[in-house]
Amino acid sequence: MSFSRKLYVIFPAAGSGTRMKSDKNKLLMEVNGVTVIDRTIEAFKQYSDESGIDLSCVLVVSPGKTDEWDSYVKDKDYASMISSIVEGGDTRTKSVGNGVSALKAFNPANDDAVFIHDAARCLIDKDSISRCFEAINEDETNVCVSGVKTKNTIKMVKEDISQGVMVESTPNRNLLYEVQTPQCFKYSILEECYRRAKEDGYEATDDTALAEHYGYKVRIVEGSYSNIKITTPEDIAIAEALLRNMQ
Ligand code: CTP
Ligand code: MG
Repeated sequence: MSFSRKLYVIFPAAGSGTRMKSDKNKLLMEVNGVTVIDRTIEAFKQYSDESGIDLSCVLVVSPGKTDEWDSYVKDKDYASMISSIVEGGDTRTKSVGNGVSALKAFNPANDDAVFIHDAARCLIDKDSISRCFEAINEDETNVCVSGVKTKNTIKMVKEDISQGVMVESTPNRNLLYEVQTPQCFKYSILEECYRRAKEDGYEATDDTALAEHYGYKVRIVEGSYSNIKITTPEDIAIAEALLRNMQ
């Protein structure tokens, strides 16, 4: 297998963090003394330093905030990895779409690996990154996503006005995965999916759903149960507890 030594990463960081219910941007909140965003980007830097894979990153931030973020990253150890800071949109799909458009300036090859990784998933580990990078560099894998088998039993339901929430069926848990990020694409497929989604006004909560929508096969790559997304206030305490376990 001939491995590309290049990896592009788009970090969507343009959300408003409504579920965190804090005046502070959740990406600037600290987990064991390090901000969420720093932890996220530093995990990728560590992977790059150890693997020798060259990383170029696009940070997608809230409209009107590019200068602020520029000042924030410029003194960081990872500053040279941030090739571009662009404005996002009012949905995650639009934010990632802007990140994909910004990638064009770097002339990626069709087969180059591009990861989309939520800035809010700050416990991403280098082994999960590595498994995704290896998978997306296989000829037959165009799109893949980090995921874990669900631990809970999931019910399909129907909301009934008179009876309430009613169970329709219980899917086989062995066939259910929770997906995380990285969501990974060969560049040309990512570019096509986001271009078409923009034309069609198609939105999805995750990136690989766009690939499914446009007929591409999506592979699940083993992720980690620790790769949580910082979403609600208790996630900070959960992340700190998980970190104690990971170190
Ligand atoms: N995101 C983004 N642009 C948006 C919405 C989300 O770039 N319009 C980013 C967030 O910054 C985050 C990631 O997508 O890194 C995952 O989104 P989520 O955890 O839902 O964050 P928020 O949308 O900020 O939070 P909430 O849904 O609670 O408002
Ligand atoms: Mg959101």
